[in-house]
Amino acid sequence: MDKLPKIFIDGGEAEETRAASEAMMKHFGRPLDGQTTNPTLIAKNLAARVKGKISQEEALEEYKRIVQEMSEIIPQGSISIQVFADRETPAEEMLMQARVRIKWIDNASIKFPATFEGLKAAEVACNEMPVNITLVFSQEQAAAVYEVSRKAKYPIFISPFVGRMDDRGENGMDVVKNIIKMYKNRDGHVDVLTASVRNIEHILYAIYLNSNIITIPYNVFILWANNNFPQPEVNYVYQAGNLKEIPFQEKVLLGRNWLGYDLNHELTEAGVKRFFDDWTRLFL
Ligand code: G3P
Repeated sequence: MDKLPKIFIDGGEAEETRAASEAMMKHFGRPLDGQTTNPTLIAKNLAARVKGKISQEEALEEYKRIVQEMSEIIPQGSISIQVFADRETPAEEMLMQARVRIKWIDNASIKFPATFEGLKAAEVACNEMPVNITLVFSQEQAAAVYEVSRKAKYPIFISPFVGRMDDRGENGMDVVKNIIKMYKNRDGHVDVLTASVRNIEHILYAIYLNSNIITIPYNVFILWANNNFPQPEVNYVYQAGNLKEIPFQEKVLLGRNWLGYDLNHELTEAGVKRFFDDWTRLFL
């Protein structure tokens, strides 16, 4: 394989961004292509550095400071900043947050969850800023993302979370494979960003499948680097072990109104809750 996808780091710590970018430069002669963050990762960083609880305003200022630091390290890269939402948060509120966060740095993408309210917000936001739809676990959600952003004026990413599917015994990489198959030979306006990566095999298979982007947590990036950044052979076969196959759904066709797709997925619900809880746990 000679074409490496864009490589992002998934984290909440700018020093990891720096180290990964230097390692990329040394090995591939190019810096890191981007960074994804989320409330859990930023909260983890803050919890380690801030003694006791902080106010919501302080936490937000810290989030801004951290992404500004990341942006200075990879000014050419794309940095995903997430809106904070629970299941009650309306689209208008997410949009308001997005319009503030996009101004934090010049190279931001704003992450919205793959929920009804999240996509409603993204429908407007994609005409104003780069957008990353997060917590994606199904082909139907991916079809809705494609349709809701059809007229986007800025880049759109979709983030299937593979590790969280694997965690419950389903083959998360199948979701990536199915989305890429469904998007094939279309206008290419949505970039597939493989996320929730847990091991080198995820990286190899994502490269093999031509995922446009892979976001890698630093501990897995280090493993990959220490193994001299392996890439899949042309005859690469992903070993899914006992993970349950998620078959391609022929009946999920692009071309409908996005409201016609089923957005429900329990891992999306659980993910929204976890991000929100991890973030609010920081506060006074
Ligand atoms: O980019 C997605 C990622 O942050 C989620 O990863 O390991 O919490 O499933 P994980």
